[in-house]
Amino acid sequence: LNNVITTQDLIKDLSTFFKDNLFSSIAVLVDENTSKFCYPHLRDILPKHQLIEIKSGEEEKHLGTCTNIWEAMTAFNMDRHGLMINLGGGVIGDMGGFCAATYKRGIRFIQIPTTLLSQVDASIGGKLGIDFHHYKNHIGVFKDPEAVFIYTPFFDTLAKAELRSGFAEIIKHCLIADKIMWEKIRTRKLEEQNLLELVTHSIGVKSRIVEEDPFEKNIRKALNFGHTVGHAIESFFLDLPGQKLLHGEAIAVGMICESWVGKQAGLLSETELKEIETFILSVYPKVTIQESAFDTIVEHTLQDKKNKANKVLAALLDGIGNIKLNVELSADLIKQSLKYYNQLAK
Ligand SMILES: NC(=O)c1ccc[n+]([C@@H]2O[C@H](COP(=O)([O-])OP(=O)(O)OC[C@H]3O[C@@H](n4cnc5c(N)ncnc54)[C@H](O)[C@@H]3O)[C@@H](O)[C@H]2O)c1
Ligand SMILES: [Zn+2]
Repeated sequence: LNNVITTQDLIKDLSTFFKDNLFSSIAVLVDENTSKFCYPHLRDILPKHQLIEIKSGEEEKHLGTCTNIWEAMTAFNMDRHGLMINLGGGVIGDMGGFCAATYKRGIRFIQIPTTLLSQVDASIGGKLGIDFHHYKNHIGVFKDPEAVFIYTPFFDTLAKAELRSGFAEIIKHCLIADKIMWEKIRTRKLEEQNLLELVTHSIGVKSRIVEEDPFEKNIRKALNFGHTVGHAIESFFLDLPGQKLLHGEAIAVGMICESWVGKQAGLLSETELKEIETFILSVYPKVTIQESAFDTIVEHTLQDKKNKANKVLAALLDGIGNIKLNVELSADLIKQSLKYYNQLAK
């Protein structure tokens, strides 16, 4: 994507951007963490702007917070020539982008993603939105930002668990599209990975897929590998008091389960399955999924936005580096795959 700018010198590239583009006013959306850890990196070089700070967390990604953001934009008298800068993780990017895309029928915005997950995934591909009642990303639009600035030094202040969570999308991008890169990452610990190289690679994989199929009619579904079962596990744990599972931790389990299903379907070899589970289990803590939870998890897979006519459809690996779309998963296969995951040794 030509609007993605990977930079080692954020100050310089942002300054160039503001020299080349004029805005009537600028608002910067942050949460309490990015206000503290990220905003100081650019505060002094931004043109005159107003700061909008919200509380951090997925729980804030709803219409009530949007109301506050729109109120602030209105109070600043922002007109249609204004700019919103979303400085934060995927919550800030998705929600700030959504607020900008709908304010006065749409003003321009830029994404400055500050988490690994948002750099390799959320900020790429134009999906914006918020959660609604129990449903994730239920209300939203597609709209591209003016630019996305990728600056990996933001990771220096990121919690280890958040870094690990984002890394799951990097693993996914390698598995679905690049066997050579997979061979490279699978022999190294997370701490030994070259994140700058991997972030650039991941953005390349996602961009190419999104450009080919922006509205997810076919190949974009490949990005859903690991997410059919993974999302369902994530939703299940969301409803469990005190047992939070980060997105990537759930997707890690989902990738193992869906690889096992792939092996049953003759799409993956035993060796490939072993490689995948060995690496994932070396990076992520083993999750305990009670057998009594299996039915609920299967029910959650039925809610997936990608399903059609009440059938659970998944994107499975067709050998490492390739993907097969719209493979139907039966309730029984999903449960067996969870059982398989459970008996794996950490
Ligand atoms: N639009 C898409 O295509 C897409 C794709 C994937 C995920 N998403 C969305 O992204 C969201 C998750 O993104 P996320 O994991 O970035 O979550 P997040 O925005 O909640 O960030 C995670 C935590 O890290 C903190 N943080 C952010 N940057 C930091 C930094 N540099 N140093 C220290 N702390 C920092 C945040 O305050 C927050 O507490 C979800 O809402 C998901 O739906 C969207
Ligand atoms: Zn994901």
